[in-house]
Amino acid sequence: MRELNLILLGPPGAGKGTQADRLVEDFGLPHISTGDILRAQVAEGTELGVKAKSYMDAGELVPDTVIIGMITDRIDEGDARDGFLLDGFPRNMQQAQALGDALGGLQRHLSAALLIEVPDEEVVRRLAGRRVCVKNPGHIYHVEFDPPKHEDVCDQDGSRLIQRDDDREETIRRRLEVYHAQTEPLIGHYDGAGLLRRIDGRQSADQVHAHMRATVATLRLEEDL
Ligand code: AP5
Ligand code: MG
Repeated sequence: MRELNLILLGPPGAGKGTQADRLVEDFGLPHISTGDILRAQVAEGTELGVKAKSYMDAGELVPDTVIIGMITDRIDEGDARDGFLLDGFPRNMQQAQALGDALGGLQRHLSAALLIEVPDEEVVRRLAGRRVCVKNPGHIYHVEFDPPKHEDVCDQDGSRLIQRDDDREETIRRRLEVYHAQTEPLIGHYDGAGLLRRIDGRQSADQVHAHMRATVATLRLEEDL
């Protein structure tokens, strides 16, 4: 079977992490989230984490010099050689170029860019009510749209639920501006390359998941031909 190299595109709060957690189970691909990697570094207090935190709290992108090497190394690790699900990378044209170059150098290619489309006002609603598990960042809830059974307790492992530091309204607004200015151009880039698949992210998480799973299953069949 050929490898499935996927990227998830979409604004903050579109549901990239929510869907990645499900697709990883469906297709057995490693979920590589730059945001989760950076937050783990922040929690550990590493040099990279300390540097990244000020950018993240301001809603700005962490400099490419920090991010690009981290991800181009990661996609060549053992578990990612048969495919990967990238979430939050690439986020600007330089990163997209670097990913393309790295894959080309490894004689690999991108299978598709899955774009989850959600309007800005819905993003604000989703992020303002988001809660995440302190232990596993893949366990994601929403106080209204996907509440845990017990307030502020993760259904899956009983850990505490917290709000992300960058889910304050002013930071959310800045993250959206950065998305429109720097990340949105990637839509045209991947569309032009015939790799873009659009998903309507306004539906329920279950409906979005069904659409994405069907899209990825079709891609896998195409890769096998
Ligand atoms: P990152 O962690 O990547 O954040 P983001 O792109 O802003 O996306 P989010 O994680 O906020 O949203 P999501 O789409 O995963 O939504 P989720 O599934 O949680 O990046 C954070 C920061 O790190 C950046 O600002 C930057 O500073 C830095 N960074 C990261 N990558 C970088 C890079 N490559 N270069 C430079 N800097 C980088 O869902 C959101 C909420 O909605 C949840 O509450 C969920 O329950 C709910 N929800 C999900 N789906 C639905 C649905 N269908 N209906 C209703 N509610 C839903
Ligand atoms: Mg996320």
